[in-house]
Order: sequence, then C-alpha cells, then structure tokens
Amino acid sequence: MIQASGHGGAVEHADRSAKAERAGATSLVRVAAVGDLHYTRTSQGLLERALGGDVLSRADVLVLCGDLTDYGLPEEARALAKDLSGVKLPIIAVLGNHDHESGQAEAVVEILRDTGGVTVLDGESCEVRGVGFAGAKGFGGGFGRRVLEPWGEPAIKRFVQDALDEALKLERALSRLRTRSRVAVLHYAPIKGTVEGESLEIYPFLGSSRLEEPINRFRASLVFHGHCHHGTPEGRTTAGIPVYNVALPVLRRTLSDGAPPVRLVELPADEADPRGQGGPARA
Ligand SMILES: [Fe+2]
Ligand SMILES: [Fe+2]
Repeated sequence: MIQASGHGGAVEHADRSAKAERAGATSLVRVAAVGDLHYTRTSQGLLERALGGDVLSRADVLVLCGDLTDYGLPEEARALAKDLSGVKLPIIAVLGNHDHESGQAEAVVEILRDTGGVTVLDGESCEVRGVGFAGAKGFGGGFGRRVLEPWGEPAIKRFVQDALDEALKLERALSRLRTRSRVAVLHYAPIKGTVEGESLEIYPFLGSSRLEEPINRFRASLVFHGHCHHGTPEGRTTAGIPVYNVALPVLRRTLSDGAPPVRLVELPADEADPRGQGGPARA
C-alpha cells in the first residue's frame, strides 16, 4: 500500500505487492532505485532486460529517479507504463528534464499513474511500509560558494527562482514525513560529489546545492538521484547523509560484473519515528 500525501493531502492506495500486505511482519524494507531509463517508443522490455526480474523480486519498493522517457512523449510513457504494469511492487518516481522536453509532462504523469501504477512525486511525500519518500525533480545552478545567485538579467533571476522552487518542493515534502526512515528522491544532484566525472563545464546544469539544505535540515536517511550519466555513484552531503547517483549508465559502469544495474538499500520500516526525529534539526 502506498499512502501518498500531496496537494490537498490526498490518500492513494496502490496495493500491488503481496509483500506489502505483510507490513509489520519484518523490520526492514528493501528499496531498489534506478534512474535515466530514457524509454523510447520501441523500448518495450528494456526494464526486464536491464534489471532482470530477480532483483525486483528481492525488493519491496521500486524508485525511479527521472528521465523515465527520452523525449517526454506520451507513446514513450506508454511503453514504460506497460512494462511497469508487470512489476508487482509499489513504484515511486520523479520526472527528469527529458520528461519535460515535449511539453507533455502532465500526460506522461497520467499514463504512468493510470497504466503503470506509479506514484509520481513533485513536491509531495508518500509512505511505503513505514518508510517515507519525499520527491521533486530538482534543478541546476551549481554548488557550494559558486552556486548561481539571482542577480543581473531577468533570465538569470528566473533560472534561480526555478532552482529555489524545486528546493522548496523538496523541503515541503520532507517536512511532512514522520517516519524514522526518510528517502529524498530527485533527478538533479544535490551535491558536487556525485557529479564528479562529468565535464566541469556542465556542473551547474547537473544539480544545485540549494537541494542539499533541506536534506540536511530534515535529516533524510539517504538520497537517490539520476541525471549525471558520467558522474560518481556515491557521495555524502555536508551533514554526512549518503547520496546515491543511480543513473542507469553509472550503475552499469560501476557495479561489479554481472550485478544488475540497480541500487538496493535496506531501511528500517518503523511506522513512527520513536526518537521524534521526523521534524527539522534545530541548532
Ligand atoms: Fe538522463
Ligand atoms: Fe536528466
């Protein structure tokens, strides 16, 4: 069962997993994450070929970190949704920049939700078996002291405002979670560490430190992101929170021989945070 809280606090039930029905029977939830599938209209079967059914049978929830489609076309979303409809797990996703390319992001979301059974997060949060997920696409702008500031031309100010809006979406989603385990799901990178390996010239278009601040403040358990196809698989925020770049090309390149290109992480499945750590850190 997925309980999704978003605009208006709607609750959505997606009871897809026999495992999920045993909620409370185990203390750990296994999260499988991958991004940048870049489905085209002829990609049918790519998910099965790329991941294999075996790895998904060992997971309790599947997380998809954006660039689900190649050009953001409804027919690409239909090909992916058809494949996802055969995955007997709760599926959580965020969109990526490619999913916006054709100006039909709403149709992409609708198809993935209605045919693929996917919960697409855009500033919302949801819980699966006591693990909380907060999702947003994110945006660029660069990192650390070199992050782009809203100064000068209106176009620069609009760019920075979009980055700020995405950080606010993530903050809002994280603030709603009261579970012990809280997973931030992004497309863009929140830290420079997992971008390294890409051309230095494009770092500012691959992520933004503005996303890191709410992750640290709300003490997320970990972060998944995609987008950086030539980046580094693992890093940490300044507060030490693990960040995993799960872009499919990164996983294919860095995982040991024969391992399916998916990141599997186990998290405690407590329904409530007994330490009262669901809220923001207070200095
Ligand atoms: Fe991508
Ligand atoms: Fe991307």
